[in-house]
Amino acid sequence: GLPAAVTIYEVGARDGLQNEKALVPVEVKEEFVRRLLAAGLPIVEATSFVHPRWVPQLADAAELMTRLGPDGVDLPVLVPNERGLDRALELGLRHVAIFGSATETFARKNLNRSFDEQFAMFEPTVDRARAAGLDVRAYVSMCFGDPWEGAVPIEQVVAAGTRLLDLGASQLSLGDTIGVGTAGHVTALVAAFAAAGVGADRLALHFHDTYGQALSNVQAGLRAGVTTYDASAGGLGGCPYAESATGNLATEDLVWLLTGLGVEHGVDLASLVATSTWMAGHLGRESPSAVVRALGGA
Ligand code: HMG
Ligand code: MG
Repeated sequence: GLPAAVTIYEVGARDGLQNEKALVPVEVKEEFVRRLLAAGLPIVEATSFVHPRWVPQLADAAELMTRLGPDGVDLPVLVPNERGLDRALELGLRHVAIFGSATETFARKNLNRSFDEQFAMFEPTVDRARAAGLDVRAYVSMCFGDPWEGAVPIEQVVAAGTRLLDLGASQLSLGDTIGVGTAGHVTALVAAFAAAGVGADRLALHFHDTYGQALSNVQAGLRAGVTTYDASAGGLGGCPYAESATGNLATEDLVWLLTGLGVEHGVDLASLVATSTWMAGHLGRESPSAVVRALGGA
């Protein structure tokens, strides 16, 4: 059967806003994060401590976290390296996420490192984070296909993912960065991790909806026992360094599916839709989410 409950890991404020052309004022971001928490989302990734020249949209990371104050200390933030970790530690944050690549090309484009060099960058970052008592999540990108390299072998994804977990990450989020994955591929990938000793309880699934497969892929993940799903309010998102990446799976679409399946998630759909509709107004474009459009009236 399906899991009784799942955890939705909300990435709209990070994966969503990192890719928006419009610069969103920090006070709007703060309200966005607060509204996502108020809608019942249990985990709201807030921002990234990456190089501000690489992702100018999130250059206000420190200011955002300062404004959130005590309400922000348990929200995860992305850190690629020790410099990013230092910035998070200065603010007293407790949850960080590193983000690796399953492919050589994307490691270079996203991190300015070779495939092997990325681990050398992450190792001291995770060591120091754990020594300071922080929880570390690891993302691995291009798990289902890479815009430059094409098909990505499952063994290569498992090798990259287990290396990230072995550094000391508590959870591995498998990213379909460009949204090309399909359900059978999800089943095979989760099974390959299980065969390598990584159970579904240590995995999260991170789908982008480029090819409209995200919900179908979630169902494959549920059947395989995965209970954490990344999603983005209103379907915002995409990676600025991944050609052809579009929005993440919309949190509203995920919530609609889970409610229909009777899988508990704890999110108030009406307030989430209101939040995404409000954010769409700030961004000057309609949400791509079918559920937001059906329920939002905007
Ligand atoms: P680099 O240029 O190789 O950095 O970039 P460096 O280590 O050579 O340092 C150069 C300068 O940058 C130094 O300053 C550092 O201090 C500074 P200088 O001494 O010259 O004055 N610097 C920093 N400043 C602020 N914060 C930092 C930082 N690090 C170095 N953290 C780097 C390497 C990793 C920094 C760069 O490539 C980078 O910032 N990349 C981030 C790209 C990114 O954010 N991509 C989007 C997130 S990934 C994603 O969206 C996928 C995901 O959603 C899952 C999926 O869908 O697959 C997670
Ligand atoms: Mg992503």
